[in-house]
Amino acid sequence: MNFSTIITKKKNKIELSEQEIKWLVESFVKDTLKDYQMAAFNMAVWFNGMTETELSVFTSTMIESGITYNLDGVEGPFADKHSTGGVGDKTSLIFAPLVASFGVKVSKLSGRGLGQTGGTIDKLESCTGWTGEISEERFKEILNTVGLSIMSQSSNVVPADKKLYALRDVTGTVDSIPLIASSIMSKKLVVPADSIVLDVKVGSGAFMKDMDSASLLSKTMISIGKAHNRNVSVMLTNMDKPLGKAIGNAIEVKEAWDTLHGKGPEDLVELCTVAAALTLTQTGKFSDLEVAKQEVLQVLQSGKAAHYLKDFVQAQGGDFSKIEDYDKHFSTKHVIEIKAEKDGYVSFASADGLGYLSMHLGAGRETKEDIIDFAAGIYLNKTTNDPVKAGEVVMTLYTNIDKEESFIKDAQEQIVILDSKTDEQVILKLITD
Ligand code: URA
Repeated sequence: MNFSTIITKKKNKIELSEQEIKWLVESFVKDTLKDYQMAAFNMAVWFNGMTETELSVFTSTMIESGITYNLDGVEGPFADKHSTGGVGDKTSLIFAPLVASFGVKVSKLSGRGLGQTGGTIDKLESCTGWTGEISEERFKEILNTVGLSIMSQSSNVVPADKKLYALRDVTGTVDSIPLIASSIMSKKLVVPADSIVLDVKVGSGAFMKDMDSASLLSKTMISIGKAHNRNVSVMLTNMDKPLGKAIGNAIEVKEAWDTLHGKGPEDLVELCTVAAALTLTQTGKFSDLEVAKQEVLQVLQSGKAAHYLKDFVQAQGGDFSKIEDYDKHFSTKHVIEIKAEKDGYVSFASADGLGYLSMHLGAGRETKEDIIDFAAGIYLNKTTNDPVKAGEVVMTLYTNIDKEESFIKDAQEQIVILDSKTDEQVILKLITD
C-alpha cells in the first residue's frame, strides 16, 4: 500500500477500497503517515467528498483506534443524544431524566466546553464532588440502579479523531461535511445505543450557518449510523439565540432542575420534549410521535422525572443540595442588571455574543487551562419576543471579576429592542430515517 496511489485515486474521484482507507487511518495514528500527507488527503476530501462506503469504513477505523464500551449485564433499550454545541444548551440534563423515566437507559459520553459554548461535564461539576471519570463497571452499575449515566470522554476515546481534528483545524479542512460527520459519529458509536438523537444547531451561534449544509450534514450522519446498525434521527434547531434563559454552569443545572419541575422556558421545554419523544418512538416505547410528545410533556409538568437527575448526580459523587439551595451556594461579588433603553420587543444580536460574554464573566474557558467559576453566568430576565419597557431589566450578569464597565458595555451591545416580534422557532426541521 502506498500513499501516492491513494491520493491519486481520491484526487480523481475513484472510490478507495476498505484496505486503503484502513491503512491510511491506521498509518496516520501510528505516525508512519505524515501530517502533510494526511492534510493533502483531507483537502482532497474537502473537494471531492467520500462515498457512503468510504465514510463508513473511515468512521469504523477511527473508532477502532481507541477504547469502546460494552453494556453487557445491563438491560436496554439504550439511548444517546448529541448536540453540535450551543449557548445555554442544557438539554441533556433534562432529556436524560425524561427518557430514563420511561424505562429507556441513557448511556452517554460528554465533553467539556471551550470558547463560547459550554460543556455538560463542566455544568455537572458545579455539583461539588461530581465526576465523569468513572470506570466502565461503575457506569454499568449506575445505569442499572438509576437508569442514566454520563461519562467524560477520555483521551482514549477515538484518538484518531483528536489527531485528525488538530490537523484539520490548521489546514482549513474543518468545514468538510464527511469529515465533520465521521468525527461526530465516531464518538457517538463508541457506546452502544439503540437510538441516537442528534441536535444539529443552525444559525449565528452554530458552526452550520444555513439549512442546506445542516441538512446535508444530518443526512450524512444518519447514513453512517445506518451503516453501523444505529437508529439515528436529527433535529435541526435554531441557534440564533441562546437556549432557555440561563447561560453558565450551576445556573444551567438550576434551570434544568426547574424545567424538570414544569417551570422551564418554552423553547427549552419544546426541544427537550421533542428529543425525548423521538427517542421513545425510536426505541419502540410509542408508535406515534405526537402521542409520545404529549406523554413526555405530562411527565415534565408533573415533576416525576426530576429525581433521576438528582439520583444520577449523587451516584457520581455530586452534592445536589447545592442546586436545591442555589442562592446560598452560588453568589458572586457582582450582580449587574442590564436594562432596556427603550420600549419594544426583546431580541439579541447573536447567541455567540452572549456565549463569549458568559465566558468573559468567568463561566467558560478561553484556553483549555482556564479554570471555570461555577457561579458566573447570565440570566435572561427577558427573552426573544418578550415585550419590554424602557428601564426594565433584560438580563442579569453574575461575576467575580472586577470589570463591570466593560461587561455592561458588552451586554448592552447584545440587546436589540425591536418594534415588532420576530419569527422565532426553536425546531426548524426533523430528519428521520
Ligand atoms: N464537532 C466534532 O466533534 N467534530 C467536528 O469535526 C466538528 C464538530
